[in-house]
Amino acid sequence: MRPFHWTYGGASIHFGPGALGSLGGELGGIRSAIVITGRSGARASGAMSDVEGILRGAGITYAVYDRVAPNPPSAQAQEVADLARAKGAEALIAVGGGSVIDVAKVASAVASGGGNPMDYIYGRLRAGPGLPVYAVNLTHGTGSEANRYANLTDIATGDKIGGEVSYPRASFDDPKYTLTMPREQVMCTSFDALYHAYESATTVGSPPLAQDAAAISAARIAERLPLAVAEPSSVEHRYWLMYAAMLSGVAIDISPTNLIHAIENFLSGLRPALPHGCGLAIIGPPLARIVHELSPEASGRVLRALDPRFDGTPEGAARTLSSFQSSVGFERTLGDYGIDGELLETAVRRALSNEPSASRIRRRLGGLELDAERLLTILRSLL
Ligand SMILES: [Fe+2]
Repeated sequence: MRPFHWTYGGASIHFGPGALGSLGGELGGIRSAIVITGRSGARASGAMSDVEGILRGAGITYAVYDRVAPNPPSAQAQEVADLARAKGAEALIAVGGGSVIDVAKVASAVASGGGNPMDYIYGRLRAGPGLPVYAVNLTHGTGSEANRYANLTDIATGDKIGGEVSYPRASFDDPKYTLTMPREQVMCTSFDALYHAYESATTVGSPPLAQDAAAISAARIAERLPLAVAEPSSVEHRYWLMYAAMLSGVAIDISPTNLIHAIENFLSGLRPALPHGCGLAIIGPPLARIVHELSPEASGRVLRALDPRFDGTPEGAARTLSSFQSSVGFERTLGDYGIDGELLETAVRRALSNEPSASRIRRRLGGLELDAERLLTILRSLL
């Protein structure tokens, strides 16, 4: 569990036990900030009081925005941007998981460059230098602390989609802050990292750097997630899950996600109570049959890292993912989150008609024919 520091995409990333101790030094010269959190995780983990102590010790004045929701609506990034402007803040400090970090990234762009949050997600505006974002990451899933992506749900349409926004100025991955996550979140954030690995590797043109990172990430998750579920108070298991999530976050920065994320984003956009990683784990196994058919070699490498017994077939791809998920106790269904056939159909049709979502899926899976009926036939079996 060695702490280390590295820089990726301009983000100064402090990883391991004691990582937050570097926040004060990274904030040098900043006099006022907005601290952004969700409703409870930041306080329950102890990270919030530690951040507040560091800010007070450094004489930095701050205001708190503590309403970021899971699968956040674009309006929340606008609210943070408005607050930052009103307070004359010089920095945004995100204390939370991917939702919180993503809101901070987009709010930074809007506060400095104007426009509205979806302008940056859809690429109509490019984020300038903006207010620096400091990401105190509290989960082992999104990897947003180590990449340039942000996901928001467009409040005008209900479409949740990711875009290239900006890297944090500095990130802090201390595994001790993940220990208070509920069991389902432990599993589902890890599944998010696993599907980042799987999709990054299988996207057309994925280079060795992304494929190697993906394989290592999947192997770490295979080894450590069962242990973390069995021993939820072990910091060491979380260290390696956080490491896997960071690697996967870098992998998707190099080679992005494809079909499974595209469909899931629309599901959890329409049904925000569905945690993103849980949605991936539910729809991932059957959709992996399609992904494996199109990228068998890359898919096979990640799946063998997850389970060396993988047999190389599309059916085996689905089985390998779902067996691993079941082995750690994940047995949720779409119905558990109130998703019925009608909502499923809406999500699939929107994912296949939204631009840039549709062209991303097509391009990233080598011209996959977007056949809504085929996808719906596969996914309806999950209801
Ligand atoms: Fe994800």
